[in-house]
Amino acid sequence: MPTISETLVAAALATPDLDVAADALAGAVNGAYDSAGPAARPIKDLLNGTWLGHPLHPALTDVPIGAWTAALVLDLLGEKRGAKIAVGVGLLGAVGAAISGLTDWLNTYGKPRRLGVVHAAVNGSAMLLYTASFVARDRPGALGPILSTLGYSLVSLGALYGGAISLDMQIGVNHAHGAEPPEDEIDAGSLGEIADGGMRRVDAGGYPVLLVRNGNEVHAIAAVCAHQGGPLDEGKLEGDVVTCPWHGSQFCVRDGSIVHGPTAYPQPAFRVRVQGERILLHGLKAHGNG
Ligand code: FES
Repeated sequence: MPTISETLVAAALATPDLDVAADALAGAVNGAYDSAGPAARPIKDLLNGTWLGHPLHPALTDVPIGAWTAALVLDLLGEKRGAKIAVGVGLLGAVGAAISGLTDWLNTYGKPRRLGVVHAAVNGSAMLLYTASFVARDRPGALGPILSTLGYSLVSLGALYGGAISLDMQIGVNHAHGAEPPEDEIDAGSLGEIADGGMRRVDAGGYPVLLVRNGNEVHAIAAVCAHQGGPLDEGKLEGDVVTCPWHGSQFCVRDGSIVHGPTAYPQPAFRVRVQGERILLHGLKAHGNG
């Protein structure tokens, strides 16, 4: 028997023309970023959470959910002024959550992309209800609290869809943690197997590692992109920077740090020692996100 969550998600995904709506929404969001020109990439990095080491969107959603929960309680207590302030704070937080969420959503496909449209529509409707509630609270009567209570129901549904996208469909989680990185010394292969200036994917005790050679120096980072699991060994290497072939995240191969998003997570990076022809890994570097 399907769970409540499965039933609600299935109903959402059965909405007709979700792909048409997704294309229209993506066109509008991409158009806005295109109009920002060269500033688009740093803005996206900011909103994806590359500076934070964690996706920004789920952190920002706490603001409207918390503020609107407070508004609900304050309405029950008859604290009209406090409730109105809480509704307003929630609206400000919701704008930030919406912009960061749409930026993350641009890099989704299939079910997460379609459910993301429903998630945005439900939360957008809630924002309209809260905006109307904010205005109505200047007038006598119970319309303001009624509208925000309706909004709260929608926000709760939107949060369930957001949780399904993240926790069930694995959008926003760290995909470099699919296997345990080796902690003890492990032989990752021979120097001669990698062309100078090139890269090669190896299996290090069941953990996929990208080796990058520069003369007798070798760098090693996780080969599976932390963003959504793209194969970094099929990406492009330019100097010390590798670009993921799936959505263009860029990492420094020296320490796995993020050069550009959309990833919010750096790549785990290994300590490497070259002994003769052998490449030896000695566990993760302290600053690797492993
Ligand atoms: S999987 Fe998305 S950038 Fe690598």
